[in-house]
Amino acid sequence: MSEPTPKTMGQQFGRRSWAEPWKIKMVEPLAVTTREQREKALQEAGYNTFLLKSEDVYIDLLTDSGTSAMSDRQWAGLMLGDEAYAGSRNFYRLEAAIQKVYGYKYIVPTHQGRGAEHLISQAVIKKGQIVPGNMYFTTTRLHQELAGGIFQDVIIDEAHDPANLHPFKGNVDLDKVQAIIDKHGAENIAYISVAGTVNMAGGQPISMANIKALRALCDRYGVKIYLDATRMMENAFFIQQREEGYAEKSIAEIVREFCSYTDAAWMSAKKDNLVNIGGWLAVNDWELFEELRNLVVVYEGLHTYGGLAGRDMEAMAIGIEESVDDQHIRSRVGQVLYLGELLLHWGIPIVQPIGGHAIFLDAKAFYPHLKQVEFPAQTLAAELYLDSGIRSMERGIVSAGRDPKTGDHYYPKLELTRLTIPRRVYTQAHMDVVAEAVKAVYDARESTRGLKMVYEPKYLRFFQARFERL
Ligand code: F0G
Repeated sequence: MSEPTPKTMGQQFGRRSWAEPWKIKMVEPLAVTTREQREKALQEAGYNTFLLKSEDVYIDLLTDSGTSAMSDRQWAGLMLGDEAYAGSRNFYRLEAAIQKVYGYKYIVPTHQGRGAEHLISQAVIKKGQIVPGNMYFTTTRLHQELAGGIFQDVIIDEAHDPANLHPFKGNVDLDKVQAIIDKHGAENIAYISVAGTVNMAGGQPISMANIKALRALCDRYGVKIYLDATRMMENAFFIQQREEGYAEKSIAEIVREFCSYTDAAWMSAKKDNLVNIGGWLAVNDWELFEELRNLVVVYEGLHTYGGLAGRDMEAMAIGIEESVDDQHIRSRVGQVLYLGELLLHWGIPIVQPIGGHAIFLDAKAFYPHLKQVEFPAQTLAAELYLDSGIRSMERGIVSAGRDPKTGDHYYPKLELTRLTIPRRVYTQAHMDVVAEAVKAVYDARESTRGLKMVYEPKYLRFFQARFERL
């Protein structure tokens, strides 16, 4: 097989190559380190990439959260910040942008996604209620649990198999939802928690047909559907590419239609919305809005700033408009696909189909000789950093945490290391360097030893846990 080239790979969408729909106006130098320096930095960080100093990192693929490059228009927007305590003009700009692009009626700003998750969980979940979701996300599930909810996974089984090629692995299994309704009664379901795309499944999308069918099922029982809209633009792109009847629709049209089947949304604007900080809640129900508007004052700030500066809201309003542009999203996801296809070409095990925001290395397949309690995905993240200063993130047993009832680890089927691509930050040449580093670590896999956890925080342990080499 000949080496894939940017040209052949660009044709994945039936046209000529994509290229970034922007040019670079300002640059930030990258740190280049020696293996010795990295060995030391990694030990000091307890083999946890979250505890590395950013200045010790070469290509930072820890997350796509808050790491986007803002446009010149967004930077200019910062100068238009109206820093009034109440009624900032930027809030009304933001409100109008969300209403236009996502279609919900009432908007509450928050400092980031988990601020929004906190408020909505507290506002609607009654103790003991079930919260069915298309796979969990770390902060989302924790806020649901802290509010007294019980999370239940209702994603289709295919999502738990990294090799399954289902085009919409984020889909909700309607039979699983029906079974929960039959067993517990609709009144004991807080809401269905739907994410588009599903981060922990590998950035996998949910189809329009599936959300429509879920809406019909929920309408029969009066159950609400709330959307985690964090990466909804990428989900819309996959619908456009893969679902019949949507090839000619714009991302904007697809997003509007999808959101119309849901009752409310929360957002980490640090992703799709192309800002370094920010989040929001958007709902259609006035009473819920009143409750959220009340809670935001307690936990985040007044309902017209929600923990943000006026300038942050201006940058977000502009980012929302840019994020729904078809050329933007095509090159954003195109870059992720480019990296993934290079790795596949070399036979490296990754979650397929390739998702929207990241490549997920299948650490179980990488290191079949390691037990899950030897933290294969954490080990892989550490090895990748050591090899080349590339920072990735564990998304396996460490991220899954412990069952609050039994105290034992959750043992997720997926044991993954995530290479997350920030938006508008790195070039295709960076992707080549990343692919070569992964290959080097893959070639050395047989002699790699696992880790043991020597410090474990109580909540969201993956952020601050420490490890040692076995
Ligand atoms: N929902 C999803 C799907 C997310 O991916 C995140 C954050 C949140 C909610 C919470 O938002 O960080 O603004 O408080 N994900 C980041 C990540 C941290 O790296 O995947 P937040």
